[in-house]
Amino acid sequence: MPEALIKLENVWKVYKLGEIDLSVLKGINLEIMPESFVTIMGPSGSGKSTLMYLLGLLDTPSKGKIYLQGKDTSNFSEDRLAEVRGKKIGFIFQQFNLLQNLTALENVMLPMIFQGIPEEKRKQKAKQLLESVNLAQRINHKPSEMSGGEQQRIAIARSLVNDPEILIADEPTGNLDSTTGKTVMEILKKLHEEQKKTIVVVTHDPTIAHYSHNIIHIQDGQIRANHFEDEKVLWEQENNIKNV
Ligand SMILES: Nc1ncnc2c1ncn2[C@@H]1O[C@H](COP(=O)(O)OP(=O)(O)OP(=O)(O)O)[C@@H](O)[C@H]1O
Ligand SMILES: [Mg+2]
Repeated sequence: MPEALIKLENVWKVYKLGEIDLSVLKGINLEIMPESFVTIMGPSGSGKSTLMYLLGLLDTPSKGKIYLQGKDTSNFSEDRLAEVRGKKIGFIFQQFNLLQNLTALENVMLPMIFQGIPEEKRKQKAKQLLESVNLAQRINHKPSEMSGGEQQRIAIARSLVNDPEILIADEPTGNLDSTTGKTVMEILKKLHEEQKKTIVVVTHDPTIAHYSHNIIHIQDGQIRANHFEDEKVLWEQENNIKNV
């Protein structure tokens, strides 16, 4: 068995609301294996986004440990965490989070500035990434001139600039109609199959979950079920999910 890329061990997240402690995640144990494609499903407020922030090392647990390739991240300094996030983890959000006054090309080039990559190289890489998400014709357009699906594809291209091992996407199709959502998922699928990226996607949509090999159900801050390949097919049949 290979080592987990990210491992959560008895992870709790507790928010203090005045006198009250609100436990949002309650003892999560989870392993994200290299080259896996995982979806996380669960009702609104169940803790999915909180879990994604922890998986992406954007937040720290109140209790429990997060291991990155076997290393306990609780010992990492802020600088080390930022470095690891920048190098190994790509993020995709429901709201795209693009800068509106920059073109698609400039949005993708931006994260490379902080790494001191020369402009010509940045441009070249950004162009190549935008081509890989089928946006070659739109590189000089601004987000406001593009559809939701196109904007999300810019965000995917941007998440890939540092060639991360893992892509973490929180409801990447949440603002898209189902056809457009499918084109975005096809791109994630291609990245998984052709570039062996590890992918973790939060979704409400069972047809989106169908793209993954492993569906994790979270409810009230706890993992209720973790369906792998064979079981997943059964679960999909029971829930009437057709092949996509
Ligand atoms: N910073 C915070 N302070 C206090 N409570 C928080 C904070 N962040 C999240 N919560 C609470 O934690 C719970 C889980 O939130 P989370 O955003 O993880 O849910 P979710 O499963 O992503 O929901 P949705 O499907 O609506 O996006 C919610 O009850 C939310 O109100
Ligand atoms: Mg959420």
